Amino acid sequence: MCGIVGYTGRNSCVEILVDGLRRLEYRGYDSAGVAIQTGDDIVVRKARGKIVRLTDLIAKEPVSGTCGVGHTRWATHGRPSDENAHPHRAGRVAVIHNGIIENHRTLKERMLARGRAFCSETDTEVIAHLLDEYVSAGLTLEEAVRKAVAELRGSYAFLAVTDREPGTLVGARMNCPMVVGLGEGEFFLASDLTAFLSHTRDVLFLDDGEMVVATPAGVRITDFAGKARERSPQRIDWSPAMAEKGGYRHFMLKEIHEQPRAILDTLAGRMRPESGEVFFETLPLSLEQITSLKKVTLVACGTSWHAALVGKFMIEGLARIPVEVDLGSEYRYRDPVVEEGTLCVAISQSGETADTLAGMREAKAKGAISVSICNVVSSTIARESDGVVYTHAGPEIGVASTKAFITQLVALYLMALHLGRERRILTRREISLHLIDLSELPRKIEEFLKREPEVASIARIHKDARDFLYLGRGISYPIALEGALKLKEISYIHAEGYPAGEMKHGPIALIDERMPVLVLCAKGESYEKTLSNLEEAHARGGQVIAVATEGDTILREKVKDVIYIPSCGRYARPILEVVPMQLLAYHMAVLKGTDIDQPRNLAKSVTVE
Ligand code: G6P
Repeated sequence: MCGIVGYTGRNSCVEILVDGLRRLEYRGYDSAGVAIQTGDDIVVRKARGKIVRLTDLIAKEPVSGTCGVGHTRWATHGRPSDENAHPHRAGRVAVIHNGIIENHRTLKERMLARGRAFCSETDTEVIAHLLDEYVSAGLTLEEAVRKAVAELRGSYAFLAVTDREPGTLVGARMNCPMVVGLGEGEFFLASDLTAFLSHTRDVLFLDDGEMVVATPAGVRITDFAGKARERSPQRIDWSPAMAEKGGYRHFMLKEIHEQPRAILDTLAGRMRPESGEVFFETLPLSLEQITSLKKVTLVACGTSWHAALVGKFMIEGLARIPVEVDLGSEYRYRDPVVEEGTLCVAISQSGETADTLAGMREAKAKGAISVSICNVVSSTIARESDGVVYTHAGPEIGVASTKAFITQLVALYLMALHLGRERRILTRREISLHLIDLSELPRKIEEFLKREPEVASIARIHKDARDFLYLGRGISYPIALEGALKLKEISYIHAEGYPAGEMKHGPIALIDERMPVLVLCAKGESYEKTLSNLEEAHARGGQVIAVATEGDTILREKVKDVIYIPSCGRYARPILEVVPMQLLAYHMAVLKGTDIDQPRNLAKSVTVE
């Protein structure tokens, strides 16, 4: 997804902007560019490809100034190319944009009819032309943006500069994130605070329908009608070092190893195992509302959707409330039935995924109470839901989600326990046992991570596989899906996750000696049945890899490649099982030599449909 960053202040801004863009690389991008005010002009440098191509260009044709904007583009309209890269210049104005302008065709036709020439295939360029029309007619940039947003339809966070107003940056937000960083005599505007975290931790979040005007003298937030909006700064406690690789080869590996710590942070202050208590002050539900809940709807996308599938087992099993799980992109358009007593839980690492947000809005509009499980504080989903459970996993930079997923599972487990307790389904003693299981997870994962070399050697055996099958039953089935997704995302090997019991209804036809079949076969309620499915795959020559509980000698006799995980209770099991899935995908990708932290075609945060 596009990354935007802007700076105005006393310092030379090219390095600040390029550094900000590097920190936004994790969002996924295909081109990068900057526009710098140089006194009486604006100079644009942009290039398709990685940021290094942009820095090479700047080295060849240097530019300097103290106010400017920078952008990493993730193509939505028009292919990745130098021309389509942002910033887009029209006359006296340059613009960068994240999102989609839905009525760009109509606006473009209008401007073409007036003799304006377009240089790109993007929807963004119409914003630059609109603003230039108004600025050239004598309006200030702020007035021009105000008039333009009245005509734009769609989603956007954009920043604009003009050669007429040195030192002035104007931004507007509608359905895409934008945050303001407050320095001393210098200000930052960005799609994500990691862009400027090394300069300031004091921030203001913009809401939809708001504009910001920044100069070295200060920032001003207004609504689209020009009415001032008051906002108190927030201090963010994520240190810049937390966003660095910390000695690991890839962010993804670092984030896998951070999982024990991340789980501790999710649990912190939310439970007391000795007394069987769970604390969830941020849930906006009264006891009466909890007892009269009729349905929970979990809405999410990608990896977060897999967390939702596990959450269904947790909430149904522990709180005895019927749960439906839906993908944001499906839920929003299927005209769902939302009865009184429905709780909609939106699950999203970024809190900005367009489909999840739209799904949650749909449920709310139909009368559901909404709660979100988010990692990014003050993200749109977090702010729009009636209550929010933050996962506190810290910044997740690798595009493939790992620690965010595991903490979503922990948050869902805690939520299920809380609902189960309030509904008098679970006794304190039972809760206490669950909490003990949960609190042992960080140590068990830490222990398991020492076995990474064993997983790496299994990856070496299968590095040339073209397809992979992942099987699991019940609460482990979503982990089979997640294992397959991780492999696809970062190693580009085709993989499918399947409920083990369904294998005989189709995928079994694919199994031969070239097909690795990973079976999640830890001790639990469906152990024997999964074992039979494993035998079926084995008998057809499949190269079976089993994930089993420590001490399981039966499996050791049957299968050569066994990955052992520590034993634990039913609901903690998926949380442990996913770690070998992540490591296997990671090591397969290392052997393939892929771009692990920024896999091709993927974006960390998908803020368009
Ligand atoms: C993108 C990412 C996935 C992520 C999904 C949902 O597709 O590449 O890793 O699971 O978005 O993101 P969210 O921020 O809503 O959890």
